[in-house]
Amino acid sequence: EFHLPPKEVAFSFNGPLGHYDRQQLQRGFQVYKEVCSACHSLKFVSFRDLQQIGYNEAEVKAIAKQWAIKTPDVDPATGEMSTRDPVPADKFPKPFANNVAAAAANNNAIPPDLSLMTKARHHGSAYVYSLLTGYQPQPAELLKKFPDAATPPGLNYNPYFPNLNLAMAQPLVAEGQVTYTDGTKPTVDQMAQDIAAFLTWTAEPKLENRRSAGLAALVFLAIATGLAYAAYQNIWRDKK
Ligand code: HEM
Repeated sequence: EFHLPPKEVAFSFNGPLGHYDRQQLQRGFQVYKEVCSACHSLKFVSFRDLQQIGYNEAEVKAIAKQWAIKTPDVDPATGEMSTRDPVPADKFPKPFANNVAAAAANNNAIPPDLSLMTKARHHGSAYVYSLLTGYQPQPAELLKKFPDAATPPGLNYNPYFPNLNLAMAQPLVAEGQVTYTDGTKPTVDQMAQDIAAFLTWTAEPKLENRRSAGLAALVFLAIATGLAYAAYQNIWRDKK
């Protein structure tokens, strides 16, 4: 009873005729780059995929340069994994060397890959938005009813998370955490909507094609039905 369903959000891509807002996807990417990528990878998205949301080749190259790709070799001088410069075909890499390092840095929880997150969770786009804007103190009634359910140290209460307590601390905390270049005001709510939209695109880059193909199929079927009916009328005209 303390776990809440996702909030209602009016995304531009909601509904059968909805479309992505390219500006919003770019803002969401900026939030990913500047905040989420410190802990989360996008292992199914390559740098060059960003061309689909409006970056040109040169911009993609410049973006890719901001990451380093770990190679399997160990640098004998430092004992660390060697890195190389990314190429546009590389995917957004994991920020930690391995799961042990990831868990060690995050109170024993491994930050999941975000590529398909909006598909992996029910109402994923709204869920991501709600999770990011849903951090709050534990309600007094909960503690009264279940005194043992106090959020353990190192975890954070969030009623949109099924377990109610999660290892990720509130990542979007203050207005202006990123600076948008398109003049949009970077409130926490706006940043949360933008990253939720961007992660919807990473999970469903072909959403618009899928919908327009579906619409074309319906139009075709409607016309075909009309023709079949007209043919039926015509063939049986003098037999009645
Ligand atoms: C989990 C999104 C930033 C660490 C998650 C989950 C999502 C998410 C959707 C999965 C929740 C679930 O399993 O249902 C984001 C977004 C971020 C962001 C959109 C940027 C705005 C960060 C940062 C860190 C982090 C900066 C590390 C400092 C984690 C960890 C988990 C997690 C450790 C696993 C939590 C658990 O299972 O208890 N994040 N995250 N995240 N995130 Fe983030």
